[in-house]
Amino acid sequence: MLNIILFGPPGSGKGTQSKKIIEKYGLIQISTGDLLRSEVMMKSELGLKAKELMMTGKLVNDEIVIGMIDNKIRENPGCAGFVFDGFPRNIKQAQILDDLFLTRKLNIDFVVSLLVNEEELIKRILQRGREQNRFDDQNELIVKNRVKLYFSETKIISDYYIKQNKFSSLNGETTIDAIFADICKIVQK
Ligand code: AP5
Ligand code: MG
Repeated sequence: MLNIILFGPPGSGKGTQSKKIIEKYGLIQISTGDLLRSEVMMKSELGLKAKELMMTGKLVNDEIVIGMIDNKIRENPGCAGFVFDGFPRNIKQAQILDDLFLTRKLNIDFVVSLLVNEEELIKRILQRGREQNRFDDQNELIVKNRVKLYFSETKIISDYYIKQNKFSSLNGETTIDAIFADICKIVQK
């Protein structure tokens, strides 16, 4: 089994690279952002709650996202592995993912972090907002808050994975194909 966490700020390319990884290695992508957005589209109770937070660039409650991750893992017994995109986002989520995996005798193999400067992140997200109409990509101030929150609350969990010897960083500012080739090198090492 192969389990990878794609780590990095909003707009760094986690979703883009996840798609390529799952295609090549036959894995399942778990994007908490995509799962939340589909709840928002369905106007479920959870979606309505999540939308308020996502609209302001804040994190959704740990219990909600952890429940989603747990369901996705349960729904895919015996699969070739998972790519986590946008999860974990704080130490509590990282620890709970370890617990969920431990009880199933699974293991995170690699945590790959995509490095992109802040100006480029904002540019990419606003561009995507114009092209794809994603509701949380529309307002520059809120997008900036999302990026800020990554650096103040999420980035710190890189230390958690450095200690476990699972962490690698990549330049996320080259082409999509060059970044993917770098990820494959890490996986095949
Ligand atoms: P989420 O959906 O995870 O958004 P995010 O982390 O802000 O990341 P993005 O999806 O914006 O960017 P990405 O890294 O996937 O980049 P992409 O490949 O699209 O989360 C949304 C919200 O949900 C959060 O704000 C929070 O409220 C909530 N949430 C989600 N997970 C949560 C959790 N675990 N706990 C609590 N709350 C949670 O690329 C971006 C753009 O750049 C695209 O247009 C792409 O085409 C382009 N691009 C990609 N690579 C390149 C490249 N190399 N060169 C040029 N352009 C590129
Ligand atoms: Mg994404």
